[in-house]
Amino acid sequence: MIAPVEPYRVKVVEPIRLLERDERVEKVKKAFYNIFLIRGEDVFIDLLTDSGTSAMSDNQWAGIMLGDESYAGCKNYFHFEETIKDITGFKNVIPVHQGRVAENLLFSQILTKGDYVPSNNHFDTTRANVEVNGAAALDLVVEESRKPSEEYPFKGNIDTNKLEKLIADVGPEKIPVGMMTVTNNTGGGQPASMANIRKVSEIYRKHNIPFFFDACRFAENAYFIKKREWGYADKSIKEIAREMFSYADGCTMSAKKDGLANIGGFIAMNNDSLATQLTNMLILIEGYRTYGGMAGRDLEAVARGLQEVTNFDYLEYRIKQVEYLGTKLDEYGIPIIKPTGGHAVFVDAGKMIEHIEPENYPGWALTVAMYREGGIRSVEIGNIMFARYDSDSKKEIFPELDLVRLAIPRRVYSNSHMEYIASVLKHINENPECVKGLRLTYQPKVLRHFTCRFEEIDN
Ligand code: F0G
Repeated sequence: MIAPVEPYRVKVVEPIRLLERDERVEKVKKAFYNIFLIRGEDVFIDLLTDSGTSAMSDNQWAGIMLGDESYAGCKNYFHFEETIKDITGFKNVIPVHQGRVAENLLFSQILTKGDYVPSNNHFDTTRANVEVNGAAALDLVVEESRKPSEEYPFKGNIDTNKLEKLIADVGPEKIPVGMMTVTNNTGGGQPASMANIRKVSEIYRKHNIPFFFDACRFAENAYFIKKREWGYADKSIKEIAREMFSYADGCTMSAKKDGLANIGGFIAMNNDSLATQLTNMLILIEGYRTYGGMAGRDLEAVARGLQEVTNFDYLEYRIKQVEYLGTKLDEYGIPIIKPTGGHAVFVDAGKMIEHIEPENYPGWALTVAMYREGGIRSVEIGNIMFARYDSDSKKEIFPELDLVRLAIPRRVYSNSHMEYIASVLKHINENPECVKGLRLTYQPKVLRHFTCRFEEIDN
């Protein structure tokens, strides 16, 4: 494989420092073995998230200087609106400062207790915003998505039989909106095919159910369609994106991902009266309709980022860099979800770390070892994040897979960083004794991963 090469050169650098091993041992201990509690400056390579961590281009920084901070009607809003209309075709564009506000606005206005919101997989903030309004967030992703080593090209597809059955069982009036996450973050950054999007759209339209994308990573999804789906090889990313959006009635979007920006988001839709309702709510909780919680300069950075993200050369390098890391890990015998997704490599820690029992959190233990051995921060998406407590057996029920996500920030790290990450994981794989089981010493009632504390136990 020829190594993917970055289609840009470096103009500004931000120093990062690998602390000495004994310092890292101390830092992670002081953080109670929770990598969320480590300071960013003590991390060498930060793979916690691809959200808000992109490097902006010279063009975006230039745009920042053109920020118009007028309270109402700033010129950057009109550029933002025009760009989003150009890509999505939706009639109404409402800015918000990040994705979850778009979710909150939408769900708080249209859901009532007892409703259902299907998707391939809901991201955790989406699920929480559905559930807080008394509705059920249902994951209807295809079965192939549950098989880590199966090379299925569109593991983000919705199982349309399950969708039709749901609508028949509960009735369309109980489904005020149907969602689809592109790419499917929770399922490994896996794409949905155009054929699946079209079919899902047909089903929703037949039943008059509005269809919204969670479009955080729409350009990465469009890239996969171009590369993997028959009939799209000669279409541009923008043409593919426009076709994707044409099958939907609206979208929520965190511009912290495919907006190539550090903050921002929007909700867009065709329905005028819903847009008016959401705008009124926006003014109450977020800001006036032409800035929605963002500064004028941030709107400009997002507008420019959304155009840049549809550049094929950028996407080719982006997805290939993620694949490059996945291929290296595969060569070293480290089990990963295949094929690699758009924004991250997911390590199957439950399989890799055999000497630690699930109740001592092998995935979480791997995140601790990655920091201690190599100064790398990753995130567990497994037994800590998604366990359910069963009050009958008084035991935790763990998810099917105990994963560690290596999310790759956009345009930030080079291929030699990827090689370094792979070599740290190789070292851990060859020296499993450096991964130690954990016991919880503190956990809050909700979203425990952010603040829980542990002690290490002898394996
Ligand atoms: N939807 C998806 C698919 C996401 O991945 C995220 C955020 C959101 C919605 C919420 O957007 O953070 O701007 O409010 N994902 C980040 C992650 C946090 O690390 O995957 P937000």
